[in-house]
Amino acid sequence: MSVSLTPGQNHDLLNAAIEAADSCYAPYSEFPVGAAVLTASGEVITGANVENVSYGLTLCAERVAVLKAITEGHRKLVALAVWARKLPNGGITPCGACRQVMLEFMSPEAPILFMHPETGVIQSLPLGELLPVAFGFADHADH
Ligand code: THU
Repeated sequence: MSVSLTPGQNHDLLNAAIEAADSCYAPYSEFPVGAAVLTASGEVITGANVENVSYGLTLCAERVAVLKAITEGHRKLVALAVWARKLPNGGITPCGACRQVMLEFMSPEAPILFMHPETGVIQSLPLGELLPVAFGFADHADH
């Protein structure tokens, strides 16, 4: 099953990610990233990367957005957009760790949006294509 948002929803979610990048804390990499998740109830919740002097403790924008949504009471997320200011036209896809965290609260069909690095066109890939053969328990989806 493929799930897609309307072009307007894609645009709005990616714009929210672009705006969110302004609130990053990225003094070490100077690589601002913004993310936005759409919840099952229709809310958009954003996040940005938060770095740490102990570099490995850095949190990506995608995880910040997902964790904010969860701690604000949401449990089902239906789409996520990510954007990075510095790559050509903002092209970026979520890192592997974020993909696994996203799969905890999103279905494999959930669209993950990012901008094509050369054209600036919004691309959409299902989470399951970004993280095939993912780890999970048999009853994982029931949580
Ligand atoms: N980063 C994200 O926020 N999301 C990604 O998908 C990849 C990388 C952040 C982590 C770090 O603050 C900076 O980008 C450079 O890796």
